Amino acid sequence: MSTLSGRRIVLGVAGGIAAYKSVEVCRRLVDAGAHVSVIMTEDAHRFVGPVTFSALSSERVHTSLWDDDSAIPHTRLGQSADLVIVAPATARVLSAYATGYSADLLVATLIATRAPVLVCPAMHTEMWEHPSVQDNLAVLRARGVRVLDPESGRLAGGDSGAGRLADPARIVAAAAEVLGASRDMEGLHVVVTAGGTREPIDAVRVIANRSSGKQGYAVAAVAAERGARVTLVSTVDLPVPPGVTVVCAETAAQMKSAVDTLAPSADVIVMTAAVADFRPVRTADGKLKKRDGAPEIVLEPTPDILAGLGAAKRPGQTLVGFAAETDDLESNALDKLRRKNLDMVVANDVSAPGVGFGHDTNAVTIYLSTGGQKSVSLASKRSVAVHLLDSVVQVRG
Ligand code: C5P
Repeated sequence: MSTLSGRRIVLGVAGGIAAYKSVEVCRRLVDAGAHVSVIMTEDAHRFVGPVTFSALSSERVHTSLWDDDSAIPHTRLGQSADLVIVAPATARVLSAYATGYSADLLVATLIATRAPVLVCPAMHTEMWEHPSVQDNLAVLRARGVRVLDPESGRLAGGDSGAGRLADPARIVAAAAEVLGASRDMEGLHVVVTAGGTREPIDAVRVIANRSSGKQGYAVAAVAAERGARVTLVSTVDLPVPPGVTVVCAETAAQMKSAVDTLAPSADVIVMTAAVADFRPVRTADGKLKKRDGAPEIVLEPTPDILAGLGAAKRPGQTLVGFAAETDDLESNALDKLRRKNLDMVVANDVSAPGVGFGHDTNAVTIYLSTGGQKSVSLASKRSVAVHLLDSVVQVRG
């Protein structure tokens, strides 16, 4: 089961500049399998068009108490919700919610629901620190409303301070926590590798590949949300997902050393990284000079990290490999599965549009050593991560 699979979430969007970040929250909730109904306040429309949310959420956007076929949209939305999130929650909405002044659909739904509520305030520092805002939050907290405090950082006005909407990944993680959603990887140590390795030719030049690391980061983020202890061995500099520990590596040799150190304590290893297959035999000291002519670079094979892990696999350990192919997807993937002693191989045709290296989307077929297979058609890398980890949980029984 996906992390938020089948859960009905109402996402309330109030009128603050951070409304644009709520688009990402919406997308992530849908990717995690939730049915998302968006309520925008009138003011929120000034920041983001409702079409954006309609395109990403599970139904058309709700705005008014009066624009629905149903005369009582707030009770329908409130009663059917498993969770209501307000992101961003403005000072006005917090005040109206605390006092029960339900003059708009969002606040009416908040008052009508018995589902848990998660509010994510975002506003300028002076407003955030104002006693009226803090008093309203104290009232809401005392009633059992969960509050995800804003972060400190650069604000819309260009200055810095507390008041920035919590990162969308944190909001989704908090939502999953409130719902107790699929903490089905609790107690597991998951090691994930991400990015392409860089093999030095000289002091400045490398042999690299087009891997962005996005798929590996998505696997790490979802595993952490599902309760796993996650170590991510990474060659790239992307935002670290909440609860994930990053170990940096650049070359295949460094990645091998990091992974081999972690492997004995790992229950699950997902080798998402695009590890170079060949590296220069020698790295020149300093920078090779153009005037000396084109160098002859002699290559040697790198150690196959995954094959080494497969040979040393201990009982109860689950090994997942990736197969980026441009032809003969199935036979190449199945060959890898057997040759490297894997439990699962995630194959993608990187020549297809929107698939693989650098994209935010991916389309894969997951082959299991037990004979089963599952296809995931073009979807976000996060969604692919959810399917992949569903399969991991399934094969571990
Ligand atoms: O054989 P191929 O390189 O296509 O296999 C891809 C899988 O093997 C990926 O999971 C990749 O991370 C892993 N690999 C590795 N060490 C290498 C090459 C690939 O672990 N030297």
